[in-house]
Amino acid sequence: MTARPRSARRLARGLVRRVADVMAPPQALAFWADRLVPGMDAGRARVLERRRASADAVTLVLQPGRGWGGCRPGRHVSIGAEIEGRRVRRSYSPTAIRADGRIEITVKRVAGGKLSAFLCDDVAVGAWLDIGPAFGEMTLPAQRDAPLLFLAAGSGITPLMSMTRALAERGMPVRLTLLVWARRRDELCFVDELRGFARDMPGFDVRFMLTGDTATEDDEGIGRIDAALLAKHVPDIETRRVLACGPNDFVDVARRLAASQALAFDSEAFTPPRIADDIDTSGSVQVTLAASQRVLTLPRSSSLLEALEAAGLAPAHGCRMGICNTCACGKRSGSTRHLHTGALEHEPVTALRLCVTRAASDLVLDL
Ligand code: FES
Repeated sequence: MTARPRSARRLARGLVRRVADVMAPPQALAFWADRLVPGMDAGRARVLERRRASADAVTLVLQPGRGWGGCRPGRHVSIGAEIEGRRVRRSYSPTAIRADGRIEITVKRVAGGKLSAFLCDDVAVGAWLDIGPAFGEMTLPAQRDAPLLFLAAGSGITPLMSMTRALAERGMPVRLTLLVWARRRDELCFVDELRGFARDMPGFDVRFMLTGDTATEDDEGIGRIDAALLAKHVPDIETRRVLACGPNDFVDVARRLAASQALAFDSEAFTPPRIADDIDTSGSVQVTLAASQRVLTLPRSSSLLEALEAAGLAPAHGCRMGICNTCACGKRSGSTRHLHTGALEHEPVTALRLCVTRAASDLVLDL
């Protein structure tokens, strides 16, 4: 059998996809479209359902195409959509991964966030979204020899909720305490479900910690994460495996308080680290893009990804936090600083991730 040329395959895929986008009924059409051009839906997911998750968040039930590689609780996927003529992508950690292949993502509205606003307000049931392969390292510990402690702040609840649901489906085979922080009560997601788990499963315990509301229920507390709060709610922390997820500042405090006490500590931050005060971020540098021979003047104060986007470019990216490697690119010369570690990198030919790297000198990049 003669292989079809790649360009012809791409053309056929584009045509079938376009037809699938405009015709109904979508599920049936997608089914047949996938059989005409196998794998065409691997990178797409259809919105099957949407429901409100909190005052500022929605949950979307997605059906990824048949060729999609699946996901484990705790991992992330890149979700994308075309908004105002541009493809916008962000990473989300599915909050449920179902046996029938469907996944749920819970999207919190972010101030100024184009994709989160679109997913919260505008995306219709039946629409197609882009979906990338799963990535990320923070998953359930393989060892079931010790109780767990999950610490979640804001959107950090999403990977931990997925893991909590996976454990609940197995009847909670290990003792688990979940402490989840939000400013206000109406910003908390999954409250009824978590209370149901706590009621039905003796091994599970949840505390909703509020930083801008007063506590009125038995399972609510107030205050930011600190040593006294952890000692009060988790007096046996030295027996626990701890998983923490939230903004970078929250994860830093959790690590400082728990990493040395607990049996094991793992974490994931979904915001870039604060740039240390002693690092000079003033001024700008010349960045040469070798492929297009463009020379840009970019500020040293932001990540290369943000600086290139502000200059009107659209570099490939996924998680924007140094995990998925989508934004990896070659550097031919110049010095850079890693946003997580603060380390300077002077090696002339090396690879970097644009989202967690700032320019420290003039650069030449393989872009
Ligand atoms: S966008 Fe994921 S590593 Fe940079």
